[in-house]
Amino acid sequence: MNSFQVKSPANIALIKYWGMQDEDLILPANLSFSFNLSECYTKSTFEVSDKDSYEFEGQQSEQALQQIQRVRDAVGDLPYVRVVSENSFPASCGLASSASAFSALTYGLFVLATQVGASLEFGDLVELTRLSGSASAVRSLGDFFCTYDPSKPRELGQPGEWDLVDVVCTWNDTEKLVSSREGHGLADGSWLMAERLQGIPSRYESMLASMDDDSIFDLIEEETWSFLLNHITCGQPLNYTDARAWDQIRTLKEEGLRFGYTFDAGATLHLICRSDDAEQIAGKVECDRIFVCKPCEGAQVL
Ligand code: PMV
Repeated sequence: MNSFQVKSPANIALIKYWGMQDEDLILPANLSFSFNLSECYTKSTFEVSDKDSYEFEGQQSEQALQQIQRVRDAVGDLPYVRVVSENSFPASCGLASSASAFSALTYGLFVLATQVGASLEFGDLVELTRLSGSASAVRSLGDFFCTYDPSKPRELGQPGEWDLVDVVCTWNDTEKLVSSREGHGLADGSWLMAERLQGIPSRYESMLASMDDDSIFDLIEEETWSFLLNHITCGQPLNYTDARAWDQIRTLKEEGLRFGYTFDAGATLHLICRSDDAEQIAGKVECDRIFVCKPCEGAQVL
């Protein structure tokens, strides 16, 4: 294969990874649970070259070059590679663009390493993807719904498939000011953090038991508030959300529509609903761009 293309989705966490137990190992403080977003993805083209390069929509990325070298150090013999990437969605506004970009990159490097004879395990792919700096990228390696539990750092859980859709609502002028990396570093400063960590295993179990009931929407919002309250109590004025998102939530709730709202580390609003309700909800939202995303397969060669 002279050149090949990898596609990997962004994902939306219903249980958020927020805070790290080990910053060198990029090991999350807690279990997280998400589904992949069919319409929000990175496509990366890989080509053997005479030096490493990485271009994302015309920009170079030092973090990506370091990841290429990290994978080379781990697998031994990786050819120099030219990687060119683009997204189907806007970056840096709370849409987990690092998850799709770094899962696509690491997955593609593994494909290349395998082509030149390296023998690698899925656990190696999970660990190296996490070490890119984006632990949420690990969840984009699996299909549909994925769980990453830092107590089993080489594994990825795929607990099932359910009928949920994410109506992703973006605004053009909302680049985030605090990276998720910085945000993870602030999480421990919140006096609510210990309680949050303690409650996550039972919230996750309740979610799995409620995926087919409307109570899932309440649990999604409970987790959203645990996440947002951590931000505003962390000792810094951290608030990723935007008043326009709250206006939309209020209007849709007043209309009695069935959904649960959530956010990543950014202003983008995620309205989680059943597939039968998605078009109606999307039709009522006022924002700059909407992506109606079903759960989908994870990183793959096209
Ligand atoms: O993987 P990172 O460092 O981009 O962190 C992701 C953090 C959240 O998107 C806010 C939550 C999550 O689990 O996806």
